[in-house]
Amino acid sequence: MCGIIGVVGSSDALPILLEGLERLEYRGYDSAGVALQDAAHLWRARSASGTESVSALIDLCESAPRDASAGIGHTRWATHGAPGEHNAHPHTDCSGGLALIHNGIIENHAELAEALTARGHVFTSVTDTEVLAHRIEEFRREGLNLEESVRATLNEVRGAFAIAVLDIEEPNVIVAARRVSPLIVGTAAHCTYLASDVPAILDRAERFYVVDDDQVCVLTPQGFHVTDLTGAPSTLNELVVNWDLEAAQKGGFDTFMEKEMHEQPGAITATLLDRVRDGDIIFDELRIEDDRLRHVEKVTLVACGSSYHTAMVAKYAIERWARVAVEVDIASEFRYRDPIVDGTSLVIGVSQSGETIDTITALREAKSRGAMVVAITNIVDSSMAREADAVLYTRAGLEICVVATKTVLAQIVALEMLALRLAQLRGTLSAADIESLLERLHEIPALVEHVLASDAAVARVVEEVKDTRDFFFLGRNVGYPTALEGALKLKEITYVHAEGYPAGELKHGPLALIEPGVVVIAMITNEELKEKLFANLAEVKSRGATVIAVAHENNQDVAAVADYVLWVPVTVSLLSPLLDMVALQQFAYHLAQARGLNVDRPRNLAKTVTVE
Ligand code: M6R
Repeated sequence: MCGIIGVVGSSDALPILLEGLERLEYRGYDSAGVALQDAAHLWRARSASGTESVSALIDLCESAPRDASAGIGHTRWATHGAPGEHNAHPHTDCSGGLALIHNGIIENHAELAEALTARGHVFTSVTDTEVLAHRIEEFRREGLNLEESVRATLNEVRGAFAIAVLDIEEPNVIVAARRVSPLIVGTAAHCTYLASDVPAILDRAERFYVVDDDQVCVLTPQGFHVTDLTGAPSTLNELVVNWDLEAAQKGGFDTFMEKEMHEQPGAITATLLDRVRDGDIIFDELRIEDDRLRHVEKVTLVACGSSYHTAMVAKYAIERWARVAVEVDIASEFRYRDPIVDGTSLVIGVSQSGETIDTITALREAKSRGAMVVAITNIVDSSMAREADAVLYTRAGLEICVVATKTVLAQIVALEMLALRLAQLRGTLSAADIESLLERLHEIPALVEHVLASDAAVARVVEEVKDTRDFFFLGRNVGYPTALEGALKLKEITYVHAEGYPAGELKHGPLALIEPGVVVIAMITNEELKEKLFANLAEVKSRGATVIAVAHENNQDVAAVADYVLWVPVTVSLLSPLLDMVALQQFAYHLAQARGLNVDRPRNLAKTVTVE
């Protein structure tokens, strides 16, 4: 996730771009850059100073021209290519006369780059983006104008993009386009803007428009015109914006948690993008030889909190699909128990932040014992990413709410893709089975949308139980880590007592706590184990508990055991946490709202825990 901004028609574009970039920093800050255009020149500055990238860019811009009427700016969240100035946007063509910014992932960048290099283009970055600048350059040389060249280029591209392009040959014009990645256009008298989202241009533009997939917009000081990728005229839908800055930063949602829950389909799509090529699962950044992965004898996953729960989901997936023994350890326990790992082990640290000290030290311990260490993280170049032998990135974008939501789902997707890759290498699943599971995985974003759309139904269930003091979450198989995650979410933002249990374990002790007034929430989304869950629920119901089931929409039998149901769409059982957890997030969210609590800043908690 990156942030982009552009303006054309201003008497001084620079301050508009810099202020916009500061407001877009939440979308990434590995590096930042601007390109400014006046009548005869294109001026570019880029900085890669980690969290300070935008302020370092502001310093660099002291020597920038102050009369540029058009400009584009970018703040980067690295996906392809490490954070660094050479990979920072804007990227240019060979002539340096064309500058381009991009948010998204160009899936077929490697093949495009190969062809462009063969035709003499020189690349200065290792991003997936730079191919766009060079391919547009080629079409320009063939005589197409900028708008036509952008369209021709995008017709060759697979993947996700929001782009904006400046060309010294066409002053006072920005060409912008979008597929999947967000893009809005804003207008005011004599000035036209573009941005990844509203806050960047909130107090500049007077009217706002949403760019749709495969629309190309030509922005001039007088306004804009729009076509589709064939060149046929098209229109933008106007967005009514009556937010203040804080509301705009939350995208119109009341809280960052709600916003981030709604970003989950996009986080999953981004994490899947470009990782299946000709049926092969490929992680560009996971630089481990196939043979090493193939011969791994044991996988150990270490993590904390929600990341520990996703690691537990991965255990079920890796063991089922790749037939390798998997251990999952709470990171803070791992290094103090003399763990048995060696050169035949694959140790995976799972961490949204990549900075959790317990997980970092666990990975160091594993490394010192000769294990191959992989980090799965959302933050490019985080400590874990740097220290591990290899890294696999989730691409959820920056998560602001202390409570993890979209990064949790993105971790499960990344881990399950890794499980399928191991299965592919070890030949433990047929090509047809892998293809079918990948298809089901690619259906998940739409199914998550469906769960999110059931929000009002979840709120109604919460209304019935909002005064409850004790919650038990039950599940079997991957329903168990889902139950743990549901209980953690509830504890974190509502401060009520909640525990997660393997459903079969309840009768070995905790059943003594079940009495009228207790609410039991059960995951009934595993078809094979459904009957066993029903038996467990009969046990708690007969002791007076209220039962809420998380169940498949086609499950007719659930009414017999549940007082209330949170319905989710059907998927294969190992993918069910990706839907069930969303329903549990909604449940926790509404309970916190009902109690008037601040979900974005739960008491006593920090987003990143860097103490042992
Ligand atoms: O950054 P990490 O994934 O390593 O963080 C681990 C936990 O601190 C984190 O998941 C925590 O439990 C969250 N607050 C969960 O919502």
